Amino acid sequence: MLNIVKNSPLVVLFSIFSCLFQLSIAASSQASTSTSTPEVEVVGNKFYFSNNGSQFLIRGIAYQQNTANDSTSSFQDPLADQASCQRDVKYFQALNTNVLRVYAVNSSLNHDACMKIFADAGIYIIADLSEPDISINRDSPEWNLDLYQRYTSVVDMFSNYTNVLGFFAGNEVTNNVSNTDASAFVKAAVRDMKKYISDQNYRKIPVGYSSNDDEETRVAIADYFSCGDLSEKADFFGINMYEWCGNSSFQASGYEERTEEYKNLTIPIFFSEYGCNADLPRRFTEIGTIFSSEMTDVWSGGIVYMYFQEANNYGLVSVDGTSVSTMADYQYYSSEINNISPTYAQSASASAEATQTLVCPVEAPTWMASENLPPTPDEDYCNCVAQSLKCVVADDVDSSKYGDLYGTVCAYVDCSDISANGTSGYYGKYSYCSDKDKLSYVLNAYYEKENENSSACNFSGSASINSSASSSSCSSNYTPTGNSNSNSNNGTSSDSNSSSSSSSTNSSSSTKKSSGSYTVKTISKTELLAITTIVTAFMCGISIVIFE
Ligand SMILES: *[C@@H]1O[C@H](CO)[C@@H](O)[C@H](O)[C@H]1NC(C)=O
Ligand SMILES: *[C@@H]1O[C@H](CO)[C@@H](O)[C@H](O)[C@H]1NC(C)=O
Ligand SMILES: *[C@@H]1O[C@H](CO)[C@@H](O)[C@H](O)[C@H]1NC(C)=O
Ligand SMILES: *[C@@H]1O[C@H](CO)[C@@H](O)[C@H](O)[C@H]1NC(C)=O
Ligand SMILES: *[C@@H]1O[C@H](CO)[C@@H](O)[C@H](O)[C@H]1NC(C)=O
Ligand SMILES: *[C@@H]1O[C@H](CO)[C@@H](O)[C@H](O)[C@H]1NC(C)=O
Ligand SMILES: *[C@@H]1O[C@H](CO)[C@@H](O)[C@H](O)[C@H]1NC(C)=O
Ligand SMILES: *[C@@H]1O[C@H](CO)[C@@H](O)[C@H](O)[C@H]1NC(C)=O
Ligand SMILES: *[C@@H]1O[C@H](CO)[C@@H](O)[C@H](O)[C@H]1NC(C)=O
Ligand SMILES: *[C@@H]1O[C@H](CO)[C@@H](O)[C@H](O)[C@H]1NC(C)=O
Ligand SMILES: *[C@@H]1O[C@H](CO)[C@@H](O)[C@H](O)[C@H]1NC(C)=O
Ligand SMILES: *[C@@H]1O[C@H](CO)[C@@H](O)[C@H](O)[C@H]1NC(C)=O
Repeated sequence: MLNIVKNSPLVVLFSIFSCLFQLSIAASSQASTSTSTPEVEVVGNKFYFSNNGSQFLIRGIAYQQNTANDSTSSFQDPLADQASCQRDVKYFQALNTNVLRVYAVNSSLNHDACMKIFADAGIYIIADLSEPDISINRDSPEWNLDLYQRYTSVVDMFSNYTNVLGFFAGNEVTNNVSNTDASAFVKAAVRDMKKYISDQNYRKIPVGYSSNDDEETRVAIADYFSCGDLSEKADFFGINMYEWCGNSSFQASGYEERTEEYKNLTIPIFFSEYGCNADLPRRFTEIGTIFSSEMTDVWSGGIVYMYFQEANNYGLVSVDGTSVSTMADYQYYSSEINNISPTYAQSASASAEATQTLVCPVEAPTWMASENLPPTPDEDYCNCVAQSLKCVVADDVDSSKYGDLYGTVCAYVDCSDISANGTSGYYGKYSYCSDKDKLSYVLNAYYEKENENSSACNFSGSASINSSASSSSCSSNYTPTGNSNSNSNNGTSSDSNSSSSSSSTNSSSSTKKSSGSYTVKTISKTELLAITTIVTAFMCGISIVIFE
């Protein structure tokens, strides 16, 4: 639901000032270890307070301002500005809030002040690990070094606060049957963050996923994230749920069917967003049901979308600088959320289920994500290989040209080492390295295939020879399994050296365009289409340079 866009200069100025303001007092604040927010842990399909074993139900609010029209920053970190946290906390308290969901944080800013304000108010944070510019792209999914480093930086930043409820490794990445393969990459992120948290001896902060509510995939995706090996499965599952609109009911809304579908899930499930706005003002009549015994055995509460009133009309309050005015939705939400009296389970009666796990969903036309997950990105391996490449992408080639170059060179060499396929479960051993290193890797492969003929390391000036490349052998702790299913051209060098065969190489390579999917992750489908067109045209030109 949340679509973070750019912000106005005024807001930037405001946030710069409040940032300075915060810095001046940050020195006195420390990592919070508040007694009002004892650690919350997962046992079986529920969250529990660690201090008394009482069930924890999420009474949450989504808390992230849309940063429209900001050219200097792609998002505004809601936990880095003490003044706004101070401004808003009294509203959260009035709304009986115990969780805030934030979608993008800046791991180079200080969060001590806000984390303490919220801890003192008994409020936990659940944070997405991605940010708009560094997230798993459903159209060309990867679990790569950049993402790994971004995710671990957020984990490092937040690991020490007791009022962190959990992390989302992705939000609505797979959103329909056409991109279920992307979930393999998100699940690898879950696995690696769980391992990272454990390796660093951090508190066992749960890592989960936030899904959309797609009719065809919603059951399979929950099973997929909660199934299999304990080290790989998600610790919890959120679903962004907008089925209950206006004056509905447990039966009529679809909540009853969803509850039946998810009742066997072995991890906690909750609404990571809710609050349909088809009828305004929103009366939030679903809240009584969410916190009733009809749902609390299966569901762990929910996070209402959202605090700030914006163009999409989901706000509880309207904020202008330091002033906050409450909306009609706020009053309705307040009276519902302050009027619940749930029955809480006890962790003591749950320990038997604690290590249960589901069987993974069988592959079906509507569920194509492999159980075989991508490897953990290994920086040392990427660097070691990069330093050994004799032919590399020239420094002055803009990264926007990488897509074209992948398409070109992958028509002549086997690119399976840099490719990753979440459907087949085949991940090349160099597939998680940077786009630049991956491009150099395949340029080098072509150069070697041409017996290091210097004219094979040019590509119209896009490639250059590195005469100081080291000859060290690099060992990867990962060996791909399964079928690479590579559609790359497998012509031999004798073919390509003969000018008579160059035209047949051309025609065959253009029918093998699926290899053009080795593109940089930021490329959209439309751009990809454009690139594929360009590459097809471009390749005819380059083949003359190379082969004649
Ligand atoms: C358990 O502890 C939490 C946090 O201190 C508290 O909010 C809750 O009321 C307690 N529950 C019971 C049943 O004592
Ligand atoms: C962004 O700026 C443009 C031009 O100033 C304006 O028309 C548009 O409404 C703004 N978008 C948002 C979301 O504020
Ligand atoms: C994060 O904060 C740093 C320090 O203020 C800033 O330089 C950087 O641009 C911010 N990153 C984003 C993505 O906003
Ligand atoms: C986390 O908190 C502990 C205990 O307060 C402290 O010893 C440690 O230095 C903190 N670590 C970080 C990274 O802030
Ligand atoms: C699936 O989602 C993608 C990306 O949001 C969209 O472009 C595509 O049309 C959708 N396909 C189906 C079958 O709904
Ligand atoms: C919902 O019920 C309330 C109270 O009964 C009523 O005032 C309101 O008009 C109803 N809304 C809709 C959309 O039916
Ligand atoms: C839940 O488990 C029960 C008992 O194993 C089974 O009968 C039922 O079909 C399962 N429900 C779903 C939705 O998988
Ligand atoms: C060339 O190889 C050396 C030695 O491995 C390495 O340090 C350097 O970064 C490489 N240069 C380029 C442009 O890849
Ligand atoms: C990924 O693998 C599947 C199944 O093996 C295959 O059908 C599909 O074409 C592959 N995708 C790409 C982009 O190669
Ligand atoms: C290198 O490639 C060029 C152009 O294809 C060719 O003319 C030349 O004979 C090759 N050199 C060797 C040593 O194979
Ligand atoms: C590389 O290609 C460019 C353009 O095709 C050409 O001008 C240049 O001489 C070539 N460089 C080498 C070292 O072959
Ligand atoms: C490529 O072709 C060679 C020679 O025809 C063959 O030995 C090799 O197995 C092929 N490799 C792939 C990946 O198809």
